[in-house]
Amino acid sequence: MKIRRARPADVDVIAQFNRSLAWETERRRLNRAQVHRGVSALLKDSRRGSYFVAEEGREVIGQLMITREWSDWRNGDFWWIQSVYVAAAFRRSGVFRKLFGHVRGLAARTPGVCGLRLYMHTTNRRARAAYERLGMSRPHYEVFELELR
Ligand SMILES: CC(C)(COP(=O)(O)OP(=O)(O)OC[C@H]1O[C@@H](n2cnc3c(N)ncnc32)[C@H](O)[C@@H]1OP(=O)(O)O)[C@@H](O)C(=O)NCCC(=O)NCCS
Repeated sequence: MKIRRARPADVDVIAQFNRSLAWETERRRLNRAQVHRGVSALLKDSRRGSYFVAEEGREVIGQLMITREWSDWRNGDFWWIQSVYVAAAFRRSGVFRKLFGHVRGLAARTPGVCGLRLYMHTTNRRARAAYERLGMSRPHYEVFELELR
């Protein structure tokens, strides 16, 4: 299994994984065209963030996305991990462990990155177990939002 930065040609599989992720974890149907445009926009502009994919042979079997959040308290960037998904047939075989390890190593080597963060649906027990196994802990924050569109 190989971990690599996603390329524009990965847009279809990443968009499909995102739709599967939303359905599986929140029973939410994402609009196909909108997600496709959203994935494509990030792949075309590295200032927005990056995707990393796990590949077995030439098949993409897992993914995550990184976006950045400036922390004025720390004078550094948090990397937020989002869009985490491993194809069902490949779960529990270390795919996410490897994706996470790759990004963690990269973050540690990149000057100015002060940490990794993520949020997850409160009922996602599998994801919670995986994040805890990989050494992440829950900070004393809650997420608020105001949806505009
Ligand atoms: C959560 C998810 C990404 C985990 O990916 P994975 O490739 O199966 O995870 P790994 O095999 O790399 O496991 C990493 C660690 O988490 C633990 N873990 C993974 N799935 C687990 C589960 N269902 N129950 C308990 N522990 C679990 C593993 O034991 C492993 O620790 P170990 O290596 O010390 O044994 C995968 O289940 C998934 O894609 N789920 C659907 C989408 C989703 O929930 N995404 C997260 C959104 S926030």
